[in-house]
Formats: sequence, C-alpha cells, structure tokens
Amino acid sequence: MQRTHYCGALRASDTGKKAVLCGWVHSRRDHGGVIFIDLRDREGLAQIVFQPEKKEMFSAAEKLRSEFVLKVSGSVRRRPAGTENPNMPTGEVEVVADELVIINPAPGLPFEISDFIDTSEEMRLKYRFLDLRRPKIQKNFVFRHRVLQAVRNYLCKEGFLEIETPFLTKSTPEGARDFLVPSRLSNGNFYALPQSPQLFKQILMVSGFDRYFQVVKCFRDEDLRADRQPEFTQVDLEMSFVDENDVIGVIEGALSAVFKEALGAGVKTPFRRMPYDEAMLKYGSDKPDTRFGMEITDFSQELKSCGFKVFKDAVDKGGVVRGLCVPKGAAFSRSEIDGLTKFVGDYGAKGLAWMKMTDAGPESNIVKFFSKGELETIGRKTGARSGDLLVFLADDVSVVAQGLCALRLKLGRELKLIDEKRFDFVWVVDFPLLEWDREEKRWNAMHHPFTSPKEEDLPLLDSGLKEDCARMRARAYDIVLNGVELGGGSVRIHGRDVQKKMFGLLNVKEEEAKEKFGFLLDALSYGAPPHAGIALGFDRLCAILLGEESIREVIAFPKTQKAACLMSGAPGRVGEKQIKELGIKLNLPKPQ
Ligand code: AMO
Ligand code: AMP
Repeated sequence: MQRTHYCGALRASDTGKKAVLCGWVHSRRDHGGVIFIDLRDREGLAQIVFQPEKKEMFSAAEKLRSEFVLKVSGSVRRRPAGTENPNMPTGEVEVVADELVIINPAPGLPFEISDFIDTSEEMRLKYRFLDLRRPKIQKNFVFRHRVLQAVRNYLCKEGFLEIETPFLTKSTPEGARDFLVPSRLSNGNFYALPQSPQLFKQILMVSGFDRYFQVVKCFRDEDLRADRQPEFTQVDLEMSFVDENDVIGVIEGALSAVFKEALGAGVKTPFRRMPYDEAMLKYGSDKPDTRFGMEITDFSQELKSCGFKVFKDAVDKGGVVRGLCVPKGAAFSRSEIDGLTKFVGDYGAKGLAWMKMTDAGPESNIVKFFSKGELETIGRKTGARSGDLLVFLADDVSVVAQGLCALRLKLGRELKLIDEKRFDFVWVVDFPLLEWDREEKRWNAMHHPFTSPKEEDLPLLDSGLKEDCARMRARAYDIVLNGVELGGGSVRIHGRDVQKKMFGLLNVKEEEAKEKFGFLLDALSYGAPPHAGIALGFDRLCAILLGEESIREVIAFPKTQKAACLMSGAPGRVGEKQIKELGIKLNLPKPQ
C-alpha cells in the first residue's frame, strides 16, 4: 500500500505521526510564502503545507494544478490556534510535507470538481470520470454500496441463495420493448436481454431452490424519465411454499434493515396496505403519495342530476365527478386558477370547475347551478372550510384520476404540504388481473402473465366475458414509497392448466405460448411448488433515500434520455464484417 492514511481519515489523534497520503489536488492556495494544498481522496480532504525551506519541493509545489495526482509524505500536526476549520472533519490537523511525488499531471478541467457546479448534465455525463470525483457523487456510491450490503446480508440471513440467471436469453413479458442481440452462430435468430429474470426465477423454484435472490441488471427499451433507465438494477427474489404475506414480510424486514443502515433508524412495520381501488379513488394513482392529505372526493352519485350540465353529462356518459379541497386556496387569483385549468388540460381535462369557500358560503361562476343541499353535501364530503378552494373535474374516470392526481401532487409541492423528510411506505394490493388495451382491443396482464388470480376469481377464468375479465383480481402487490413505485411482485400461477387459461385470456395462441414460454410451461408440469416473489427497483430506492430527483445520480454510468452513453459513445456503429457475420443488412435512410 502506498498510503498510510486516507486524506479524509486524519484526525487530531494522529498528531505527531508520519503520514503518506495519495490523492488529487482539490485546491491550492499560496499564502505569504507558504503553499497550502487540499488533497482529496475517496474519504475526504486533508490540508498539506509546503514550506519554502525545502526549496526543490516548494518549487515543485508551485507548479501543482487542480487534479494532479500526488503522493505526499510528511508529519501530522495540529493546525496553529485560530486556523482550525470546524467545517472539515480533518480541520484540526494538517500535514507538513517533506516529500512530494507528482504521479500524474492533469490538463485544465472542463468543470470544477465541486458540489456547487452548474454545469449542464450533458457535460457531466461526457466527462463522467471527472463528475464521479465530486464529493457528493462519491458519497452517493458509498451509500449505494452500504444499502446493497444491508439488503444482501438480510436476505442471506433469511436463507436466500444468490443465483445468477442468463442475460442472453429469450424475451420476458414485462411489458416493455426488448433489447435484441443477433446471433452469429445462428443467423436470423436473436437473443433478448432480460426485462427481468422472471421466468428463470420461477424455474429455480420448480428446481427446488426454495429461496432465491439476485441483484441483477434488467434491460427495457422504453421511453426514459427521471426514474427510468434502459438498464437498471433490481433486487429480485422468489420464494416457494409461501403466500403474499410471506413476501411482504421479507421485504418489510429488508427495508427495515436498509433504513437502519442508511439512516440509522428503522421504519415502522407492518406497512399500511391499500386496495388498488381505494388508491385510484383517493389519489388517482396506483402509486399514491401518502405523505400528505388533500385526497380526492367523489361526487358522481350526489351530483348526477345536478343543474350543472358539464357534471350531469359526464355522469350520464358513464364518467365521474371528483374534486380536491385545496387548503387556503380561496386566495388564488383568477389567473392562477386559469393556470391550474391549463395544467389539467395537459392530462386531457376539458376544463376545471371551482368554488371558493367564503364566510358567506361557496362563490364562483357555477354555484348558481347547484341546490342548497348539493352545496352542503360538497362542503360536508370535502370538509372544506372558509378560505379553501374546491376544484372539480368531470370526465371519464381515467382523465379525472390522472388530472386530479397530477394537480394534487403539484399543489402539494407548491403549497409545501409535503413533509420532505418523511418516508411513507404503502403496499398497494388487490390489483385487477387484466387491463384493457384500447388501441389493440385486447386484454393485457396488469402485472405479468404469470400472476395468479385470486382464488375466488379462478372460476371467472373460463368465462371470457368482458365484465368478468374486468372483475378478476390478482394476487399482486406493489410497494410504494413517497409516491414512487419501488417494487412489485405477485403470487404466481403454479399449475400448467391455469397458466394455459391465462394465456388464452391474453389471446396468446398455443403455438406462440409454446414458442415463447414453452420451457416454463414444461417446468410447471413437472411438479411446481406454489411460489411468489417480488423485485425492488434498487436505483429508485437509493435515489429516494438520498433525496435525489433522478436515478442518474446513483448510477455510475447512466444513459441520457436518448439511451446514449455520452462518455463511451454507445450506441455506436460497428464494422461491416461484424454485421455480415451476424447475417444482418442495415437499411439506413440515405444521408441528406
Ligand atoms: P416490475 O416490472 O414491476 O416487476 O419491476 C420491478 C421494479 O423495478 C423498477 N423498474 C425500473 N427502474 C428503473 N428504470 C426502469 N426502466 C425500471 N423499470 C422497472 C421499479 C419496479 O417497481 N419480474 C417482476 C417482479 C416480480 O413479479 O417478481 C418485475 O420486473 O421500481
Ligand atoms: P363553461 O360552461 O364552459 O363556461 O364552464 C364552466 C366551468 O366549468 C369553467 O370553469 C370550466 O373550466 C369548467 N369545466 C368545463 N368542462 C369541465 C369538465 N369536464 N370538468 C370540470 N370542469 C369543467
């Protein structure tokens, strides 16, 4: 080892010791004939003093620039009284240099290595090797490591075996587009990178491993957002001879362990459980942010024959009328309300009805259309008080849910109703088994096609009627943290017959099922145990715990919105020979 101490680890108790430090020049200050360097390594900064008496070394120190790599030997001493820096963990001491080795110089930097830069993300990602040197980012990865070890230790302790599954495989139906890899040895055939290890982990259960986990990369070619990357990490697990409560218990235990490690305090378990229907009704979303109230209220029944045509027509057409009570919102100006109307317009809403609650009762352009009784019901159901603002949407249920969900979150943030320090977990349960794809006019599995229907809904599998399909509930569960879907899983179908029926409902033809999932169907017919599992989005977990807006801040080499790596230049062109070997012909548009 070249060093004796990490820079960031020096303390007053090291006073008088010899130290050899290795690291990067963070900053240089020349002070009346003395040169100070802050030397940086993974653990932090240490102040080095170069004194003019050692002429040769001093003149070398004069040439030091930011990010030069050094090895410095010297002795640790207490900083002179009055020059201590209480803001630095090493601020009580400094190292008086007696030997300096410049291991490597560095050119001028595209941006400063500092937590306080306003460089574009494009620059940061292009020079990610420099960006990753910033202390805050380094802390993120130390944190990520610790969280990962906490999860691993917990699962190992609970008897889970860590088993790897292939990346070159067949398509897994998690609902996104696959990344494909053409085969050289079998031209015309393609591997798909796994969207998750779903099929393999079920097969591991059939093979008798009982409890499996894996920290695994998953690949999904989908539109990217702040919390979505084309490759991301799951903590994936599967268990045999269990039901949903066992899986939920393991995840609650693992997350408690994580919180203890990461934040020094456990979380209160068991977490609350909320049926999907309740989440959709009260929060307009299956990932409710339960850190604050301002829940959605439904008025469809009470206002179905009211005098306001917009509301009545919506209910007549099978839609709903729902609203939010915005605390102290009566102070909003007309143009602010117009702004909210425009905002919900982006979610398909045709307008936004509103009432200001005053001491004299509700006031607005539409109050006249409602009876006294209806106004009283609105007031009672929302608990609105004088000074509040009521807003309403009337439309089909999905437009209303999306519009009010977005509006609730926006106002929650803007009115500072959200306690940003709070971590609020909720299990969303009782999901529908299927969802109707309006464009394709077919049923899709809401979670994935291997999710078991609830026992009591099994008879409906044979019906095929639309209302029966819509009614079936799944043994699926999502874990939601602060309004973010952190993970999801389900009890699986473990019988070949039920699985075949499920494919039937999803209109997956027998041939197709055999071609795509034949190996799973085969496995299920050879004695499959009842099994269930879940996967946590590990990048999301770390980002939320760190209060980061984007998972890019906790992924060492993330990709941009266009799924590009600006540092390596991936995706890139490949040579003609390689393409030919793969039996592929490019069909690119001619350059203009
Ligand atoms: P699911 O598709 O719900 O379930 O994925 C589990 C969790 O993975 C995270 N996640 C993502 N994170 C970052 N970028 C993405 N593109 C991305 N997509 C998903 C989310 C999500 O909750 N095989 C099932 C699990 C099971 O049934 O056991 C599965 O993959 O946090
Ligand atoms: P109008 O009858 O068009 O003058 O609209 C009266 C009020 O109802 C306005 O505040 C509109 O923004 C609002 N409004 C119109 N359509 C809807 C709708 N679908 N849901 C809720 N409010 C609406």
